[in-house]
Amino acid sequence: MSQGPSSSRRQITLPAATRTGSPVPWLTSIHSTINRGHWGASSYRGNCGGYLIKDLLAFYEPTHVLDPMTGSGTCQDLCKSLKVPCTSFDLRAGRCAGEAGSYADLEPYDFPPYWRMIRYGDDPRCFSRAPTLEEFMGRLGGILKCCQSGLAPGGKIAVLIGDYHDPGLGRQVPLSTLTTSLAIDRGLWPACTPIIRLQHGNASSRRSHSSAFIPGVHDTCLVFERA
Ligand SMILES: C[S@@+](CC[C@H](N)C(=O)[O-])C[C@H]1O[C@@H](n2cnc3c(N)ncnc32)[C@H](O)[C@@H]1O
Repeated sequence: MSQGPSSSRRQITLPAATRTGSPVPWLTSIHSTINRGHWGASSYRGNCGGYLIKDLLAFYEPTHVLDPMTGSGTCQDLCKSLKVPCTSFDLRAGRCAGEAGSYADLEPYDFPPYWRMIRYGDDPRCFSRAPTLEEFMGRLGGILKCCQSGLAPGGKIAVLIGDYHDPGLGRQVPLSTLTTSLAIDRGLWPACTPIIRLQHGNASSRRSHSSAFIPGVHDTCLVFERA
């Protein structure tokens, strides 16, 4: 078997980005940090580290952040350190992101960050337990609808989601494309370019598979606003 391209060919040099009035000029369509920062817990599965959220908060300057899937609390910790008001909940404490009642008493928020698909817990409402892709997309549509209900004017909804190869289905599952299409159907529109986040240190990089497929090494952050 060939050794593949030399490591020098595999190194990524990010292209220079056009200059804009952005307060975060290094935030471009590709986000790559080797370290995850000290927010939340790296041991929590599906945790993505804090720097992308930090940059998005600096760019959009929200006044109230909602994270309806707290996990280990990366977003919550970041908001605390930046003194940005944040409401955060998770199904593990019994509050479901797909139920309108979970949003009933919230102050308007202008930035609910992200969620992702990995198997967590036994609660049937857990997104990771959706039995089919159709069911998962239906639940995601429900969350987008719920999140929109309290979105302040000009507020943004950010979703971090990865495409993946599903061995059971034997095919690629283009979740980021499907999510964009779902969001547009639900009255949302992309607020910026999709942001490709390189997954340094991802748990899946330590697994092996007997089937041949081209592994993904990134996920995609999609930011939406009302259409
Ligand atoms: C990718 S993790 C979030 C990681 C988190 N950002 C962190 O800092 O660690 C996804 C979370 O969504 C939660 N979850 C799954 N289904 C849910 C639902 N229906 N309502 C609320 N939370 C849910 C899981 O319990 C899990 O903690």
